[in-house]
Parts: sequence; structure tokens; C-alpha cells
Amino acid sequence: MLDVGCGTGENALYLVQNGFSVVGVDLSTRAISAAKAKAQERKLRVDFRLANALSLQFESGRFDNAIDSGLFHTFIDDDRISFAREIARVLTTRRKSKQHSPHCSISTTSRMHTSPRESTTTVGELT
Ligand SMILES: C[S@@+](CC[C@H](N)C(=O)[O-])C[C@H]1O[C@@H](n2cnc3c(N)ncnc32)[C@H](O)[C@@H]1O
Repeated sequence: MLDVGCGTGENALYLVQNGFSVVGVDLSTRAISAAKAKAQERKLRVDFRLANALSLQFESGRFDNAIDSGLFHTFIDDDRISFAREIARVLTTRRKSKQHSPHCSISTTSRMHTSPRESTTTVGELT
């Protein structure tokens, strides 16, 4: 799973604790450093990387799912389109079952938070 704009990594760490394999990317060096420190402290394995969500270095179809908590709404309209295209590109088109179909969840909230939220809204499949 890809956590795009992962910040200091709470959502990614939560997902790993619940059995997912997660790559977390963020544009902020400080956020990625903090996320890596948390993962080390909690003895959890998350691949945190510095990356721009509008131009990801992953091959097409790399991920089954993506989560965005608090990033999409920060983009101007043109970047939102680029973002959706880029996320769709890195999501697999391989369908295992209805429950495992690729999708992207985009949050509608604007506050930073310290724990995973339940307000994330699934906006539909992008592929
Ligand atoms: C509101 S915070 C949300 C952090 C985390 N997802 C959460 O829910 O706590 C938005 C994050 O997006 C990151 N960000 C902003 N523009 C980005 C971009 N183009 N690519 C990757 N991350 C970006 C910021 O550095 C920040 O950590």
C-alpha cells in the first residue's frame, strides 16, 4: 500500500501494525526523518521515502492500494488532476476480488492529526 503525503507516518505505522506492507512518501525531509524515527522506535518496518506525489519514481502498477490523508485538498486544480493521474498510474489494474480492487482513499479534512482518523472518504476507483 502507498501512503502518499504520509507526514510523520502515523497512518502508515497503523497500517503496518495491522498487517499491511506500506511505503510512505512525503515531500518534507523533516516529516520523513520523524516517520523513520517513529518506525525505529516502535520496531515497525515501513519504507519511508522522500518523494513528490506529483511525480513518483515507482513503476506503473506497483501498488494495490493508496491512501491520502490530508494532501489532495492542498493542491490547486491542475495539480489535483496530475495527482489523480499519478496515483492511478502506480496502482495495479490487476483485480483479485471485489474487496481487493485497487482504490484510492482521499480525506476531506484539513487538520494535521496524531492518530489515524475515521473521516477518510473513499472516492472511488481510479483505474
Ligand atoms: C496535512 S499533512 C498530512 C500528513 C499525514 N498524511 C497525516 O494524515 O497526518 C500533508 C502532508 O503532505 C505533504 N506534501 C505536500 N505536498 C506534497 C507533495 N507534492 N508530495 C508529497 N507530499 C507532499 C506535506 O509535507 C505534509 O506532510
